[in-house]
Parts: sequence; structure tokens; C-alpha cells
Amino acid sequence: MLKTPAPPSSAATGAPGLDSVLFREGMSRVAAAVHVVTTDGSAGIAGFTATAVTPVTDDPASLLVCVNTAARSAQALLANRVFCVNTLTADDQDLANIFAGRTELHGPDRFSKGKWDKLATGAPALTTSLVSFDCRLSDARVVATHHVIIGEIVNIRLGEPKPALVYQGRLYHEL
Ligand SMILES: Cc1cc2nc3c(=O)[nH]c(=O)nc-3n(C[C@H](O)[C@H](O)[C@H](O)COP(=O)(O)O)c2cc1C
Repeated sequence: MLKTPAPPSSAATGAPGLDSVLFREGMSRVAAAVHVVTTDGSAGIAGFTATAVTPVTDDPASLLVCVNTAARSAQALLANRVFCVNTLTADDQDLANIFAGRTELHGPDRFSKGKWDKLATGAPALTTSLVSFDCRLSDARVVATHHVIIGEIVNIRLGEPKPALVYQGRLYHEL
């Protein structure tokens, strides 16, 4: 006789009350590319490390970035309405830590490390990135603790095809 599978527990279904610690632990198992998202304009220069970057569609070429509403860079990015997603190579782990606020460098001082120039929008583009996606903000909404920001990609610069920087299990890895 076929056995009926047991119904999934609430912890696996997204039922109300799902433990945020379990969510974070689950997400820590997911390997993700590491990016530095930058912006510049009348609201000032800013940048932060992000793994929550996802392609949306290739027509028009678009991606989305999730940034905590408490991040200082978020306000500058939303006001400037331009940003550049710089995908890091394994050589640039130091930049990942700087732009994650894990050093004494904050605000514009974060850009004192690394080599930066600009593509079309004026947002800082990392010359050593694997790839840089220069974007104009096309949509944004708040989902609980995070801004979900969609950008239309206006320029892409391909860097040297070096090993990528990946974050998994709360550690950096080279891929
Ligand atoms: C590997 C890694 C990935 C991160 N990904 C994100 C992310 O996707 N979204 C986010 O809001 N913060 C993310 N953070 C945290 C921000 O980089 C960090 O809070 C940063 O200091 C925000 O800078 P700001 O407050 O100056 O804007 C990540 C941190 C690390 C180390």
C-alpha cells in the first residue's frame, strides 16, 4: 500500500510565525555571487556589498537589488535613481568587507580602495570587476525590511574572466 507523505511542517511552508533565524540559516546555505552596488549624483556617492541581486528580464535588460531600509546607501540610491552593480572577483574580497561596513572606512571613504571609473550613469564602476551593470532605477517598492529596487541596464562592461567571489555558509569562497 502506498504511504501518504506526511504534510510538511509549518517551518517548511512559510506559515505565519516562521522563525527568521531558520530563514537566515536556510539562506546561508545558498551560494551567491558577491557584488558592490554603487550610486552617485545629487544625493551623493555611496556603495554597499550585496548578494541579493537577481536578473529580471533581458527585454528590457533589467535586474533587481534588495537593500535594507536601514542601509545608509539606500537613500542615496533611491534619490540618485542610478546605480552600478559590480560583480567581484576573488581578488577583491577586501572590497567586499569594506563595502559591508566591516572596516573603519565608511561613506565616501569606502571608495579610497579599489580602482573606480564611470560608465553611462555616473555611478562608480569598479575597473577590476568581473562585470559591471550600469542601471537606471525603473521601479522600487518596500517589502517589510527591504527596498526591492529594479534597474534597467543601460551599459555593461565585461572585465577579465577571473575566478568569482562567492558567499556561502557565512564565508567567502573562490569559484
Ligand atoms: C556577503 C555580504 C552580502 C550582503 N548582502 C546584502 C544585501 O544583499 N542587501 C543588503 O541590504 N545588505 C547586504 N549586506 C550588508 C551590507 O553590505 C551592509 O549592511 C553595509 O554596511 C550597508 O552599508 P550602508 O549602511 O553604508 O549603506 C551584505 C553583507 C555581506 C558581508
